[in-house]
Amino acid sequence: MPSPAVVRHAARLRGTLRVPGDKSITHRALILAAIAEGESRIWDGSDGLDCNSTAGVLSALGVEIVRLGAADGGRVDRIVRSPGRARWRAADDVLDAGNSGTTLRLLSGVLAGTPMRAVLDGDDSLRRRPVARIIEPLRRMGATLHARAADTLPPLTVIGRSPLEAIVHRSTVPSAQVKSAVLLAGLSARGTVEVRETVATRDHTERMLRDRGVGVTSFEDGDWVIRMEGGATVQPRDERVPGDVSAAAFWLVAGAAHPDAELTLECVGLNPTRRAIVELLRRMGADILVEPLATDASEPVGTMTVRSSQLRAIEVDAGDVARAIDEIPALCLAAACAEGTTRIRGASELRNKESDRIAGIANGLSSLGARVAVEGDDLTIEGRAGVRDFGLAGTAVRTLGDHRLAMTFAVAGLLADGETTLDDPGSAAVSYPGFFTDLERVSA
Ligand code: S3P
Repeated sequence: MPSPAVVRHAARLRGTLRVPGDKSITHRALILAAIAEGESRIWDGSDGLDCNSTAGVLSALGVEIVRLGAADGGRVDRIVRSPGRARWRAADDVLDAGNSGTTLRLLSGVLAGTPMRAVLDGDDSLRRRPVARIIEPLRRMGATLHARAADTLPPLTVIGRSPLEAIVHRSTVPSAQVKSAVLLAGLSARGTVEVRETVATRDHTERMLRDRGVGVTSFEDGDWVIRMEGGATVQPRDERVPGDVSAAAFWLVAGAAHPDAELTLECVGLNPTRRAIVELLRRMGADILVEPLATDASEPVGTMTVRSSQLRAIEVDAGDVARAIDEIPALCLAAACAEGTTRIRGASELRNKESDRIAGIANGLSSLGARVAVEGDDLTIEGRAGVRDFGLAGTAVRTLGDHRLAMTFAVAGLLADGETTLDDPGSAAVSYPGFFTDLERVSA
């Protein structure tokens, strides 16, 4: 039984935080370091459970991953020493991706182009995540994949092959994980691999492949197009990982919604394909100052400062949802504290995350007193800006074992009257191990 956490109403929020290393970038840094032959260092990477799942799978394939020193606030330095993907050893057991969809999907792409047999599995939540979206393109490239429930759900068996065929993949759902799986498989392909998306999803894989000597170009021709020269060698490279903007999002919402708040977030990633949450909150009237920093990191980083703001409702369309996919739960809380009615349309992908986040957010926020309605895959949230504590009253809330729901409801607890009890706060460690320590610091 997980132990519950109690979050009390905070009279004020103040402080400077460094959120954990970016989860998406850390997964990719580990994977690319393991593909390359030689040594790569990863500074300030995420020490969340998800990235540790990726590290665990790579270790099982014969890659040496050494942690340097103790983790600090969800950030850890690691050295990766790899014999190169061609000399990975076939694992004698099922590869455990834990709760991590990114581990499962990105590594499926890599394994599709690696001549060995591997089985990827994970926890109960991961076993409900769709895999047909990666099986289809990877099979077209020539790999053999099988999955449970008529090839729709993990466990997933991948029988890799090299070389693979180059393909053009048109995304049916906006997904950086699928795009990345195809590109990573494409490292073993003969010819030019192309991915076409209707929404530009996070582009860390493209940037990081380029940084490691792989020819990748991106352009727009009505679609967002990514082209990669197959058969390329990935060079080892050191990486400094910026703070995770998806983790920062909880504090941006807390700071903007709380009537007496000023929070500063240091060294946060400012990648344009990740910062839609800042634009959405600004559209709502949030006072967020972003100051870019000059660093040696390959991704842009900066400091964010958020202050108490009068939030107002906005319209959120399917493109916004895709660009801020991981931040929508927190955005829904901001909407509950805004003036007017926010509509979020075309959010079906939220049902395919660590939990059904449409149901989870609607039930959790409603139990706290927010006015949330669900129709199909759309959410309508009636904000209660003028009402004391936004009409939110502490109660027992179900987090469905989902880290982003746990953190959203914890922030709601800071805004709500009284005490909010979360059934499974431990899930926050999936992406933000120090979340509750940071919560105490800013609300003390
Ligand atoms: C991720 C892509 C997104 C996101 C996930 C991380 C990535 O998933 O929700 O947390 O690192 O590529 P989808 O590709 O399924 O949208």
